[in-house]
Amino acid sequence: MSETQESAGTTSVATAQASLTVVDNRTGKSYEVPITDGTVRAMDLRQIKVDDEDFGLMTYDPAYTNTASCRSAITFIDGDKGILEYRGYPIEQLAEQATFLEVAYLLIFGELPNREQLDRWTHAITTHTFVHENVKSFVEGFRYDAHPMGMLQASVAALSTFYPEAKEIHDEQVRYEQIVRLIAKVPTLAAFAFRHAKGMPYVYPDNDLNYAENFLGMLFKIAELKYQADPRIAKALDVLLILHADHEQNCSTSAVRSVGSSQVDPYSAVAAGVGALYGPLHGGANQSVLEMLQRIGSVENVPGFIEGVKAGNERLMGFGHRVYKNFDPRAKIIKKAVDDVFEATGTTNPLLAVAQELEKIALEDEYFTKRKLYPNVDFYSGLIYEALGLPVEMFTVLFAIGRTPGWVAQWLEMVQDKEQKIARPRQIYTGDRTRDYVPIDQRG
Ligand code: ACO
Repeated sequence: MSETQESAGTTSVATAQASLTVVDNRTGKSYEVPITDGTVRAMDLRQIKVDDEDFGLMTYDPAYTNTASCRSAITFIDGDKGILEYRGYPIEQLAEQATFLEVAYLLIFGELPNREQLDRWTHAITTHTFVHENVKSFVEGFRYDAHPMGMLQASVAALSTFYPEAKEIHDEQVRYEQIVRLIAKVPTLAAFAFRHAKGMPYVYPDNDLNYAENFLGMLFKIAELKYQADPRIAKALDVLLILHADHEQNCSTSAVRSVGSSQVDPYSAVAAGVGALYGPLHGGANQSVLEMLQRIGSVENVPGFIEGVKAGNERLMGFGHRVYKNFDPRAKIIKKAVDDVFEATGTTNPLLAVAQELEKIALEDEYFTKRKLYPNVDFYSGLIYEALGLPVEMFTVLFAIGRTPGWVAQWLEMVQDKEQKIARPRQIYTGDRTRDYVPIDQRG
């Protein structure tokens, strides 16, 4: 029994203000369980047993809706108040005043960089954007219509084979190098996936450009000698990346931490995060939003669609969030970026009117207000990506680029956290027990 477990039942006086008294009605026994940081330790419940044979009480939390899996000092969210902070800095201020690489530094190292630190960091990222030439060959092996998220996931995982030292996860310098490589190379891999689908030659990174400009160049450069991005578009993209950079223990970050807890290299762990992000309930939602808007087609079809959602026939994609139950602060910032991008591209999109009408009706409808369903980060981001000329399949890839610093920051924190072990949940077994094997010709 651990120290915590032993003390769990005996600290009633010292922690009278911060403990939970549990009476097990099966036995009549009473237990005192310490409360720290608003939580009780699940392992403190293990002492609650019917008899000595009993395994002890567990908690059942199928989607970790009420379970803290770690201590983290990276991202703070207050879902009821709509607050999102990276290392204590409000997302609104970072989106307006910082650059994506500055935010990446903040997430990973815990403080905003000074000028010299930022220059060194930017230089490190910029000079690691190239990938091994062999990467091109295996990207070529994908079918022409392969989904870029599948390609990204596979190619991020494959990076571990190019950097076998990455498995030295307890070596600080090695960890730093892989973090730089991941943030630097993910846009290159993403752009290769995009060009592959188009049948266009891959564009090598341009170290004269900033992070967002370079990515746009690798996507869209054709024959021009030097690619020049519209600064308003590059800025909007940079803001979008900042908004996606971290979001505490979401599905993909939990995947990165969980896979990383086996002490595998960070490329394999981040590839797991890319896989989790691909799902339509997570990062894949921005693709689903645009497909939904296209299906609705025009403003007059919105009320009928909303009725279908209320009848339970489908979900209003881009609405609702496990944590935000008031508004998603990222959605507010994105809404403004939509205007900037449309102004820069000189385009309009009739689907914007559909999105606005959906939002208007849903925010007034009791079905949505009662369930606290508000637009999330994905509701408007797809419209921006489309205005940038990206196909829907690339939307989640953009999210993955933005989320990479968050994944590596969380991975780094996990690797250095002495309390963490290999992630290994328990189960409630519901199947049969100890049956005799039946030869195949005797089975019914
Ligand atoms: N449209 C219609 N109804 C919804 C929606 C929605 N988008 N989201 C939730 N609901 C309803 C549910 O049907 C449920 O209703 P009920 O109580 O009558 O059964 C209630 O609201 C609660 O929903 P849950 O699914 O229990 O909420 P949960 O926290 O598990 O789900 C999620 C959160 C997955 C984001 C959900 O709101 C959803 O599917 N949204 C659409 C997909 C989406 O936009 N995902 C992106 C999330 S943000 C991100 O990953 C970056």
